[in-house]
Amino acid sequence: MCGIVGYVGPREAAGILVEGLRRLEYRGYDSAGIAVVNGNGLEIRKAAGKLSSLEQQLANAMPHGTIGIGHTRWATHGAPTTPNAHPHTDQNERIAVIHNGIIENAGSIRKMLEQRGHSFHSDTDTEVLVHLVGEFYQGSLEEAVATALREVDGAYGLAFISEDEPDVIVAARKGSPLLVGVGEGEYFIASDASPLLEHTRSVVYLDDGEMAILTRDGYRIRNLETDRIEKPVNQIEWDLAAVERGGYAHFMLKEIFEQPESLWNTLRGHLLEDEGTSRVTGLNLSDEQIKQLDRIVITACGTSWHSALIGEYMLEELARIPVEVEYASEFRYRNPVVDERTLVIGISQSGETADTLAAIREAKLRGARTIGLVNVVGSTIAREVDGGIYLHAGPEVGVASTKAFTSQVAALALVALRFARLRNLSILQGRDLIKHLQELPAHIQTILDKAPEIEALAERFVRAPNALFLGRGVNFPAALEGALKLKEISYIHAEGYPAAEMKHGPIALIDEMMPVVFLAPNDAVYQKVLSNMEEVRARGGKVIAIVNECDAEVERLANACMAIPVTHELLSPILTVIPLQLFAYYVAVRRGCNVDQPRNLAKSVTVE
Ligand code: G6P
Repeated sequence: MCGIVGYVGPREAAGILVEGLRRLEYRGYDSAGIAVVNGNGLEIRKAAGKLSSLEQQLANAMPHGTIGIGHTRWATHGAPTTPNAHPHTDQNERIAVIHNGIIENAGSIRKMLEQRGHSFHSDTDTEVLVHLVGEFYQGSLEEAVATALREVDGAYGLAFISEDEPDVIVAARKGSPLLVGVGEGEYFIASDASPLLEHTRSVVYLDDGEMAILTRDGYRIRNLETDRIEKPVNQIEWDLAAVERGGYAHFMLKEIFEQPESLWNTLRGHLLEDEGTSRVTGLNLSDEQIKQLDRIVITACGTSWHSALIGEYMLEELARIPVEVEYASEFRYRNPVVDERTLVIGISQSGETADTLAAIREAKLRGARTIGLVNVVGSTIAREVDGGIYLHAGPEVGVASTKAFTSQVAALALVALRFARLRNLSILQGRDLIKHLQELPAHIQTILDKAPEIEALAERFVRAPNALFLGRGVNFPAALEGALKLKEISYIHAEGYPAAEMKHGPIALIDEMMPVVFLAPNDAVYQKVLSNMEEVRARGGKVIAIVNECDAEVERLANACMAIPVTHELLSPILTVIPLQLFAYYVAVRRGCNVDQPRNLAKSVTVE
């Protein structure tokens, strides 16, 4: 989704802004622009398309000035054209704004302003907002913004500059993340930490309803009622190298290969081997509260929703607590049955997904306890839940989620282990699960070492128009995730199904052009999955089998077989998904797709 960066200090702003926008590219965008204030007033450059189009413009005429704002836009109101790109200006073209989010009552404000003689150059809600600020401007940008924000409904992360106040950035947040970067004699505003890291690690996270006033001498946080709020300065642990590609062709490939380490970072410090349980104090749940839980609802979107489904199997099997998994977008608008004995778990890599955040808020409103399994430290969901676990998977830049998924499943295993030991799992069963968790990083490495095999396999299926991913039990969600990965980045139509459901529809699609990927580790339903393989084979489908051992029977049934290490049945999706991630990656690369920024997708979906 859209990205924001702003700078005020002694240095030339334009270069810093463009570099910041580059770091925000991963969020997904379709146009970009910057505004800088110099001695002559506001200078704005913007262009539809990728950052390179904006850079071409800048090559001929770089604006000079030491204060500015920059934006990557992901179209919501209005097509992804240059006029709709941000920054937008007020009627007098003296104030510029960049905006993430949606102003819901823009239509009525626009009408009112048109009656007062305003004319608009774009289809955006953002231009309406900055016109409103211009209307209220009486010598203080800060006060004009505060007054305008009292009139608007919707979600926003905003940054304004004005040529009449060339030392001030006014920023505001409601529903869309913003943080202030505190440098040495210079200050930044950004929608996430990535554009700040090369300048400073000290940040202040804004909360909903807050504004930040940045000048050359310092910054101040306020809200619409109070003039000053004291907030802590946090230190970001991620370094710049962690968000750069580190020699890999794509961020996605780097992130796939980081999984032995990222998974261990999720588990590190949480495993209590002797007691056969996990230490997850961050959940902020007492033993008594855990024992009294009636049920658990897990809510999430996209890949995180798939890990939630795996969590359902784990929690029900190990802890014997009824679990429901809900798409966050559905949960938030239903009339969900939750109360104080329901635990609602929100899973989100970014911690900013609008629907997941809204679902958590709805659950809290109804008295449920909420916990978050979140990767991005300091993100909104992480700050709003009653407790949780940080994944510590490190920054995930590729739009298609990979390492966050395996870390989410590992974090769910930690939760399930703790809950299960307090209810009905024996110490020996607990120790067994821990042993298997500890082995996972090495097992993942074993699979990654076979990447060339998967690359060769992918080569054979680049032209497939469709693909089917089948699994049973806990590997059914892994099959969904394999299909999602392939469709997200290669644009091949792919579906995941419980293997036995194949007979109720998808079997009609099977022909010799159709790769059918079976996830068949040696578990309780292994033999049944082999029968499903037989059915595909009989209809000419091309079987790719992910199994623990490529024995004679599998060799007979499958056109290609890949053996992966044996683990605890409930943890097996952490291993079965790795070849699927690699398969999707190599197919997409061979098809010439933009793997890290697939068309139409965004890393962090901050609108509903
Ligand atoms: C977007 C991303 C997906 C991600 C989903 C949920 O659709 O492209 O990769 O799984 O959002 O994001 P979250 O940050 O809440 O896990």
